[in-house]
Parts: sequence; C-alpha cells; structure tokens
Amino acid sequence: MTICYINGKYMPKIESKISIEDRGLNFSDGIYEVIRFKNKKLLNYKDHQIRLERSLHEIKINFPFASKKSVKIIISNLLKINSYENGFVYLQITRGTATRNHLFPKFSKPNVILSLYPEPNLSNLSKGVSIILTDDMRWKRCDIKSVSLLPNVLGKQFAHENGCYESWQMDKEQYITEGTTSNAFIVSGAGKIKTHPLNNKILGGVTRNTLIRVAKKKKIRIEEKAFSLKELINCEEAFLTSTTVGVLPVTKINNKKIKSGKIGNKTKILIEIYNEFLKNQLI
Ligand code: PDD
Repeated sequence: MTICYINGKYMPKIESKISIEDRGLNFSDGIYEVIRFKNKKLLNYKDHQIRLERSLHEIKINFPFASKKSVKIIISNLLKINSYENGFVYLQITRGTATRNHLFPKFSKPNVILSLYPEPNLSNLSKGVSIILTDDMRWKRCDIKSVSLLPNVLGKQFAHENGCYESWQMDKEQYITEGTTSNAFIVSGAGKIKTHPLNNKILGGVTRNTLIRVAKKKKIRIEEKAFSLKELINCEEAFLTSTTVGVLPVTKINNKKIKSGKIGNKTKILIEIYNEFLKNQLI
C-alpha cells in the first residue's frame, strides 16, 4: 500500500481525494516537480527545490509550506513510511479549490500533493532510443514546470505510436527546442556538444543543468546554443536528459540511424561523468 501526502495528511494513495473544483483539474492551474531517489536518498534536491519555488513565483502561488525545510521533511517521511528504495517523488501544487472562475479565487489554499513512484525498469533504453520530430505546439512559457501538459502528452503518444521513445519538438524556424519529457542534445559534425539555451522555449531541466556543470568541471564544454533540423540530421551523436532516465543515448532520428546507430563516444563519456556525480551524492 502506497502512502501519499495530501494537504497536510498522510494517507493510502487509493483513499486520497481531490475536489472536482480543484483548479489544477479545471484549468491546469498548478505546477509540479519530479525528483529521483536512490537508496532512499534524494538526487539533485537543491535544484528541484529552487525550480519549484521559481515555478510557484511565476504563476503567483504563494509558497504553501511552513518553511523550505518542510518540503524535505514531508518527502523524508514518505520515504520512511513507504517501502520503495529507488524511484521518484511526484509533487504537485495547484491554486486550490474554488468555484469555477478563471480569475484567481480571493480565498483558497493551494492543494498540495506528494506521492512516490517506484523506479521502472529502464535497462531496455540504455542501448539507445529512437526519436521522432514534431512541431512545438506549446505555449510561450515552457520554462515553468506547469501541469498543463497536453501538447507534451500528445507528442509523447505520437512518438510511442511510431515506435519511438520521445518526440523532439521544433520551433517555427526549425530549431529543436526539447523533447516532450526531456532536454535534447547533439554532438555536431564539428564535434561541438549543443543544447537549446535557457529561455521561455524550454524547461530548465535539472539533469540538463547539472550535466553542463559537471562536464565543465571535466573540461568538456557544452554549448547552450540552439541546433537546427539540418544540424540534427547531420549530427555525429545525440542524447537526451531527464530526471527519469538521466543521460540517455539517441541512436535513431525519424527512423534513420545516426551514423552507425551505436552510442557515440562523447555520449558515453557524459553518461559516465553524470552517473559518477549521482553516485557521489549517495555517499
Ligand atoms: N519531465 N523538458 C520537459 C518538457 C520535461 O517535462 C522534463 C522532465 C525535462 C527534463 O527536466 P529534468 O531534468 O529536471 O527532469 C525537460 C519530467 C521528468 C516529467 O514530466 O515526468
């Protein structure tokens, strides 16, 4: 039985209920975070906490916990109560419950949900995944980790129906922004490692940002510069990053192998560096 946290109470997930007037349900008026834990220890926690506060600030929801420490205490309690050793914390905060009206309600308390999910078996992905390209149909504030994920859901489903793991989205100028659930990287023909810069067109992925930092320490430069469809088609290597999969090699684009279809050398090195960094957080 999984125990979750909902508005101050710990209870079995199957008994947890939220109102039909929750603004997350009616308007997608809320934000979320996904945090990985390994051996019951949280990974990259500080970065997730900073992004959570930023998302709340950007959509004008007051921080709904007694203090910053409270969030970590709730998560620690969930990790103690539940048996999962490895998995993910899902945290969602909506503007609360109120009679349906687009305007912010005058009096409402945010609805706060935290729940744990066990780690799925990802071993079949580690040899490399296929991606498919789609138009980026999302709004102009993709930097906010909003629960409004319909274009992402449709994009991911489109990938799945075409035998792919992920869709990489393109803006009007045919530059790749990011995946539906991950950030996108290539190693260009000239050997440069590139990913879209941080702006309103992408989510500032915690894995993305961490990888750039740890690679820099090892003297590997990742350029935060958008790459075009043409560069992608001619790239040497490609990979994606997210909390759920870490650094994952991409070996096929639109059903065509990238070079030999094997994991690239630079990708291998970055996977190693990133995994080493995570391991050090477990000590
Ligand atoms: N998704 N871009 C988008 C659109 C995402 O949804 C995610 C993560 C990322 C990667 O961010 P991070 O490295 O912080 O996980 C980039 C999460 C895992 C999800 O929605 O389940």
